[in-house]
Formats: sequence, structure tokens, C-alpha cells
Amino acid sequence: MTKDIYIREISSNEEIQEDCFLMKVKVASSFENPLPGQFVMIRIAGLNDPFLSRPISIYSFSRGRNYCLLEMLYRVVGKGTQIMAGLIKGLQVEINGPLGNGFEISDVKKNIVFIAGGIGIAPLSLLIEHLSRRSDLSPSAMTLYMGAQSAAAIVGLDKLQKLCRSINVCTDDGTIGIKSLVTQSFQKDMKKFTPANTVIYACGPKEMIKSLAKILNKSKFNCQVSLEERMACGTGACMGCAVAVKNQKGVFDYKRVCADGPVFNLADIIWE
Ligand SMILES: Cc1cc2nc3c(=O)[nH]c(=O)nc-3n(C[C@H](O)[C@H](O)[C@H](O)COP(=O)(O)OP(=O)(O)OC[C@H]3O[C@@H](n4cnc5c(N)ncnc54)[C@H](O)[C@@H]3O)c2cc1C
Ligand code: FES
Repeated sequence: MTKDIYIREISSNEEIQEDCFLMKVKVASSFENPLPGQFVMIRIAGLNDPFLSRPISIYSFSRGRNYCLLEMLYRVVGKGTQIMAGLIKGLQVEINGPLGNGFEISDVKKNIVFIAGGIGIAPLSLLIEHLSRRSDLSPSAMTLYMGAQSAAAIVGLDKLQKLCRSINVCTDDGTIGIKSLVTQSFQKDMKKFTPANTVIYACGPKEMIKSLAKILNKSKFNCQVSLEERMACGTGACMGCAVAVKNQKGVFDYKRVCADGPVFNLADIIWE
């Protein structure tokens, strides 16, 4: 679904850790309140190479009297994000969003588990912020497993320490937290949680989500994952971001990550 495209000025764009930037953009008050897990398509106004917008999750959002502040946390991985990193305050970007379907937040569970790999922390951070405002949920209900390759790639931890009582940091090289894959760290603790009282939210690289699928295979945990796929239109028109899933009837189907996701039930994803 196409939303209004906002051309707005960048308020700030700071490198908060090596190759990881926090961009803040003031958008019009008409910008819809985003649901955690939704994203925007962003491109530099007037730039033709790269012509395509890049999908970036909404990391934080606040509504002021005359405008809203949209925050995006991103890692430089290629041409588009490299160009974004070079943008300075005052330059203009085109923003289309909020797009996609966010995480489903239904009844309150006793345990809410978040599993983040690398920059996958961005949409989960907005979700944690959102849930922490609920009066029926205590910070002790929320357990975060946060993993990355090394200490330099762990971002946004300070903010989350105020919201989540239990945070398990792990890195591939052990430079911060436990030396472990984030999925293994969760797996070790899995017996602390019971499927009926727990909901799991995850976001990270495809390999991480795949390994989580193996760990949770045949379990009854409700696990929602936000998928990262390359996107062209971001609005459901090109089918460029299709993933294989089981549909509601349990039959093989394709769904578009941008328009039908990016959040899916882990159990519905078909990995071949
Ligand atoms: C719904 C959604 C939300 C996202 N949220 C964030 C976020 O909050 N912060 C963030 O840093 N990144 C996020 N991403 C990933 C981000 O869109 C890509 O890193 C970005 O598009 C890369 O563009 P590029 O031109 O710099 O890299 P390219 O030159 O296009 O590619 C460089 C490398 O990145 C990989 N890549 C490219 N696009 C994607 C993609 N969409 N997903 C995964 N890998 C990709 C390529 O395979 C290649 O290895 C999100 C992706 C999706 C689909
Ligand atoms: S990117 Fe075009 S349909 Fe998803």
C-alpha cells in the first residue's frame, strides 16, 4: 500500500558506533503513529543512483506539537546506506511510510522474549519501548537476548537497560557479554519459559532466524519474526520481496515481506 511520500529535512545523522548511524528526521504531524515492526522506504530526494529507496525500520517515534520525530538506526552495508551515512543536517530525504504490518501485540503474557541479531535490534527496540508503557506489564516480564559479531556492533543497549530488567548480551568473539550465538544463548534458557505463557519476538539476519526455526521446531511457542529481504518498491507492487510460507490453510504460498510482513509467524515460514 502506498502512503504519502514525505520530503523532509534531516535533523541529525550521527555515527553512534563504527558504521552504525542514528538518523533523525522531522516529519509532518500527519505521519501516522507507527506500529513496532513497521518500516519506511527512504531515499535521497532527487538522487537517481541508487534510484531505489531502502527499507529501514522505525527505531523510535515521538509526536511533537508541530511535527513528529522519526528515528532510524542503520548499519552501513552497501551503496545506499553509505550515501545515507554521508548526509548532513538540513539535506532532504524522501520518506514513504509507515509501511508493512507490525508485531502482533495481543494478550499480555507472563514472559516476553526478544531475540535480536545485530541491527535487528532496531524494530525490537521500538516494540520494547511500546510495551514498557503498558501498565499491565512489568519490566521483569521482558527478557532480551541481544547478539552481534563483536562489542562494536552492539547498539542501543543503554536505552534498553532502562526498560528491560533482564538483558543477555552475547557476541561471536566474546568482546562483550557471553561468547555465544544469540540463538544458543536463548536455547540454554529455553526451559525457563513455557509456550502458554510466553511470546517471542525476533529480528536479525536470515541465518539467525533459520536457526531459531530449528530450535523452536515442533515446540508450541508463539514466535513472531521480522524478516529482512531486499526490496524494490516496498509497497507490494513488484513481488521482489516474496518469501515462501504456509498460508492460513497450511498450503504453500508466497507472501510479500513489504506488504504482508515484514512480521510473520516463524512456524509459517518455509525454508526449503
Ligand atoms: C523491513 C526491513 C527493515 C529493515 N530495517 C533496517 C534497519 O532498521 N536498519 C538497518 O541498518 N537495516 C535495515 N534493513 C536492511 C536494509 O534495508 C539494508 O541493509 C539496506 O537496504 C542495504 O542497502 P545498501 O544499498 O546499503 O546495500 P546494497 O549495496 O544493496 O547491499 C549490500 C549488502 O546488504 C545486503 N542487503 C541489501 N538489502 C538488504 C535487505 N533489505 N535486507 C538484508 N540484507 C540486505 C545485500 O545482500 C548485500 O550483501 C531492513 C530491511 C528490511 C526489509
Ligand atoms: S518490494 Fe515490491 S512487492 Fe515487496
